[in-house]
Amino acid sequence: MKNIVITGFMGTGKTSVGRRLAKELNLKFIDTDDLIEKKAGINIHEIFAKFGEGYFRLLESKVIHDISSHTGMVIATGGGAIVNPLNFEALKKNGTIICLTASIDAIFSRVGKGDERPLISQDDKREAISALLKVREPFYKKADFTIDTTAKSIGDVVKELLKIVR
Ligand code: S3P
Repeated sequence: MKNIVITGFMGTGKTSVGRRLAKELNLKFIDTDDLIEKKAGINIHEIFAKFGEGYFRLLESKVIHDISSHTGMVIATGGGAIVNPLNFEALKKNGTIICLTASIDAIFSRVGKGDERPLISQDDKREAISALLKVREPFYKKADFTIDTTAKSIGDVVKELLKIVR
């Protein structure tokens, strides 16, 4: 069975949905951000602060390259992973790519006030989300399927996903 790759912007529910979907399908769940943190031995926030985004992207590509040769898994990526065409191609080779989307308001309320997401940790978080979303949109459009998660529960989204993958 092909991998089910869940991608999309921060706060669209990739990890929660992916974990639940994997449980429903009895498949292994992998979150690329978790693997990156394990590899680095520090959390994402610290990777960005100490070594910068470039180093984070290097680890991200390495992790994606390593997992992409396997099949039969549910993979949740970080929000920027598929911007690199090599990452997209690697994930696509053995996987169906599903992009989760949400309105700016929903993303804003879901990501909260914390600074664990370095790319939107500035004071005007809403503006940062909106600007980054514009840049990311063309990449997210390359997904095989898109599900809008605005105003939907995790269970609702998983049901839609099951219809796609079954
Ligand atoms: C990022 C999203 C984050 C994490 C890192 C970079 C991005 O993952 O990979 O902070 O570039 O959009 P989530 O989308 O799981 O928050």
